[in-house]
Amino acid sequence: MNAPTQRPLRVLQVSAELAPYAKTGGLADVTAALPDALRAQGVDCRVLLPGYPSVRQAVQLATALEPLLWPWGRVGRVLRGELPALPGRPSYVLDAPDAFDRPGTPYATPEGALFPDNLERFAALSHAAAWLGSGGDSAWWPDLVHAHDWHTGLACAWLALAPPRGSEALRAARSVFTIHNLAYQGLFPAIAVARLGLPAAAFQMEGLEFHGQLSCMKAGLHYANAITTVSPSYAREIQTLEQGCGLDGLLRRRAGELVGVLNGVDDRVWNPATDKLLPVRFDAQSLEGKAACKAHLQQALGLEPAPQRLLLGVVSRLVAQKGLDLVVEALGDLLGLGAQLAVLGQGDPALEAAFREAARQHPGRVSLSQGMDEAAAHRLVAGCDVLLVPSRFEPCGLTQLYGLAYGSLPLVRRVGGLADTVVDCSLEHLADDRATGFVFERFDRGDFRDALRRAIVLWSRPDEWRRVQRRAMAQRFGWDRAAEGYLAVYRRALRQ
Ligand code: ADP
Ligand code: GLC
Repeated sequence: MNAPTQRPLRVLQVSAELAPYAKTGGLADVTAALPDALRAQGVDCRVLLPGYPSVRQAVQLATALEPLLWPWGRVGRVLRGELPALPGRPSYVLDAPDAFDRPGTPYATPEGALFPDNLERFAALSHAAAWLGSGGDSAWWPDLVHAHDWHTGLACAWLALAPPRGSEALRAARSVFTIHNLAYQGLFPAIAVARLGLPAAAFQMEGLEFHGQLSCMKAGLHYANAITTVSPSYAREIQTLEQGCGLDGLLRRRAGELVGVLNGVDDRVWNPATDKLLPVRFDAQSLEGKAACKAHLQQALGLEPAPQRLLLGVVSRLVAQKGLDLVVEALGDLLGLGAQLAVLGQGDPALEAAFREAARQHPGRVSLSQGMDEAAAHRLVAGCDVLLVPSRFEPCGLTQLYGLAYGSLPLVRRVGGLADTVVDCSLEHLADDRATGFVFERFDRGDFRDALRRAIVLWSRPDEWRRVQRRAMAQRFGWDRAAEGYLAVYRRALRQ
């Protein structure tokens, strides 16, 4: 089915997160930036979000669409209104207080325990997306549903297998599924298949089943008309046994419909020249502003007010993926080289404790700020000299892109999107004017330390440092390019 040529392509984006309303990581940044970038490409893009308290408070001029009936017997309600973060077009909010009106993150209690009813919550969101994709809002019927991560994978299955509006759904929308992180799969007991009213026949290897469980990730991967992930390298890596999380076979089979579209930087949010969260704004021509941000940060975090010390920064979820145990392991090396370390993050209690202990043992040299704090993240990215992202795997990674934009040279492992976006300061890359950061290969202390050494040596040569820093700041990872990539995928999915 092709969209009629006289009107723009209509895309409904559905996701569990969207900044600034609900954010635990990069997914929220992506889903917030993509609608406007698509709009600039002529796509009529609306979003559907869960009615978290933050979303319910923000939505304006909301009207309720006709009730939707969930296969599990409950009745839901979709509101159509305007979200200030996405002005000038309607957005949809799934109004289901039982499911979404509660404290905590989108997935867990304030204490960090996953909600026991996450399947029902995100099945409801997915079903609402499929309902809109089969004509739930008669005033706006999308050509395509773009679903992000496991929370919305079932939308692709419902659209393909059983559009919620049944025979009224003259033409169910096509679907595109984006993998932001294959490691989180949304696995639930098989019994849920019947409870959710999914066709029993679909519970098989060529369908929803994954080692005896219902896999929401696989629902997206199997039933979407096209699949994307967030960097070309990760698109290749997930087709291997090592990084395929058990789904590499399926991904290899669908390799023809799998594309890596690199994430971008939303420079309305992440731009050091206009960033209102910084004490001083700067650009590549006014780097004294960056020095002021560093001095401010050192003072705020209780670090020695020493401009000459290389300040290493971490802004991250503290989880195994991010490889920060390597930073703990190499703490002695890092301090021995004269650097300072500022960590902002939360997650794994053991990692939190390790950084807390490091800060206690090395006051003035190491600091830990625990929690999710958007303003603190901007100030840390702006004030540090080097941003550490030593991930075990990384689908794309946004913090290294923010590091580049803010002249904070990323030190990253050569994996996934990190490999696609940072060029190491090797002698040949320096000679060719290509270097933008520091890249190490193996996940071990030796390789990490060598990269730290390269950073320290470059730091001791201020003119060369400045050159690399300006080159980093001149990199453009625009959402316009990413939106073009998605548009090509949408067109292909619609032609099928
Ligand atoms: P991931 O999505 O795997 O966590 P990304 O690098 O793609 O990794 O995105 C991380 C996003 O979350 C960035 O916007 C980053 O600034 C933000 N972030 C991570 N940790 C924190 C924190 N402790 N406080 C505020 N923002 C954070
Ligand atoms: C995931 C990935 C991260 C990516 C983000 C946005 O959380 O871990 O690498 O940048 O999604 O796509």
